[in-house]
Amino acid sequence: MQTTDSSRPLPIAEARSGLQVLRGLLRDRSLLTALALMREHVGPIFQITMPRFRPAVFVGPDANRQVLVTQRDLLSWRNASDPVVKLLRHGVLVVNGAEHDRYRRIMDVPYQRRNVLPSIPAFWRYTDDVTATWRDGETQDMLVEMRKLALLILMGASFHVDVAPHLARLWQPILQLIEYISPGLWILWAGAPIKASQRQAIETLDAYLYDIIRTRRAALATRETEPDPTDLLAALIAAPDMTDDLIRDQLLTMLIAGHDTSTALLAWVLYLLGVHPATLTELQAEVDSVLGAQDEPPTADQLNELTLLDQVIKETLRLYPPIHIGNRHATEDMIVCGYHVPEGTRVMYSIYLSHRDKEYWEDPDAFCPARFARGAEEKTPPFTYLPFGGGPRNCIGAAFAQVEARTVLARLLQCFDFELLNGDQIHPHMGATLEPRPGVSMRIKRRK
Ligand code: HEM
Repeated sequence: MQTTDSSRPLPIAEARSGLQVLRGLLRDRSLLTALALMREHVGPIFQITMPRFRPAVFVGPDANRQVLVTQRDLLSWRNASDPVVKLLRHGVLVVNGAEHDRYRRIMDVPYQRRNVLPSIPAFWRYTDDVTATWRDGETQDMLVEMRKLALLILMGASFHVDVAPHLARLWQPILQLIEYISPGLWILWAGAPIKASQRQAIETLDAYLYDIIRTRRAALATRETEPDPTDLLAALIAAPDMTDDLIRDQLLTMLIAGHDTSTALLAWVLYLLGVHPATLTELQAEVDSVLGAQDEPPTADQLNELTLLDQVIKETLRLYPPIHIGNRHATEDMIVCGYHVPEGTRVMYSIYLSHRDKEYWEDPDAFCPARFARGAEEKTPPFTYLPFGGGPRNCIGAAFAQVEARTVLARLLQCFDFELLNGDQIHPHMGATLEPRPGVSMRIKRRK
């Protein structure tokens, strides 16, 4: 247990910012606005004290580093009553200590950059599969289209399973699961019951996942080829003591964590390009100069030449980080940045607020990809920009997500023009990820 006489109690957000937050809430009806106002009026560290919901919220590099690295041993993942823990059971995202490290060692391998690059052709091909249904001049919701694409990619490139024939049947169950783990009544009431439709959704997904595990086990048992290092499911089956139940937990974890985030990222990039058409034109010129009219997938070197695309992706992740907040649970009394955090406190480090903090970013709400131009980068301290978290529990899929985003966007920009139709309605929604709601309506015109 950490104790010191000099530690201070956490500042209570409502006591210091009550009226301003209330006004902001009435104006924007957004919890993100409320959090931003608390940070503005209280400071980078504060506690919210609603009945049954009393999280300590941390913003900025010092607190992020302490939560993610130096003090991580005093923090566990969330409460067992959170729906995401109930759903993912022993998934690598929600377990702690030696159990976490065991799964992580197995699962890190397929997501190392060198094992992600061979999937570039699959990322390219799935993009073509989804856009093959688009008609010239029609309007599409990019939130929906990017979700289809992210699901095909994750299951195809990572599980080596073609989900396309099952997508229509699994679509609603997947959305139900995402709703189940999104912020809801359970935050205030740990005993909130699961909806019947959500229970049914879990059964449907489980039946599908157990089936692909059994089928692959049988196929691998009769084969004597070298294991493919890109294949997550084969790696899980080959690892000692991984039962079907444990493999189901890892697959469901990756299915949710690996597609919902990429969906949000791709949809936010397209939204921002719709709002900033000059950047869209510049990006298309860059893609044309590197790829021309080539139909075959780009090489890793070609993707590396797309420097403006890289900056746009990074700036999008800064403004709209799909995982906007990280959740932990203090397992004993601790001190973070001089504040006393009692055992049992829900601890949240805010990626969104760290990415928009005036103390570290110039004009933080402006879309400015040049911040990330090589050689001219804004020099923010480490742990100020952390779209993929940090420390030993950073994102397993960071390399996968970045190569995926570059490949998909390069192909989309090479083949299509996009016009945003509902920009004035779009706002960030706190679901399981930070999503552009009500969706990103874009008129599509074929370029080639
Ligand atoms: C744009 C895409 C993505 C973003 C922004 C993102 C963001 C993050 C963040 C911020 C964390 C740390 C959360 C925390 O500290 O509480 C995380 C963890 C994780 N991510 Fe991602 N992620 C993305 C894509 C992916 C993909 C593609 C996969 C799988 C293929 C994935 C799987 C995971 C897993 C399993 C963890 C938990 C790691 C652990 O606890 O050891 N993510 N991600």
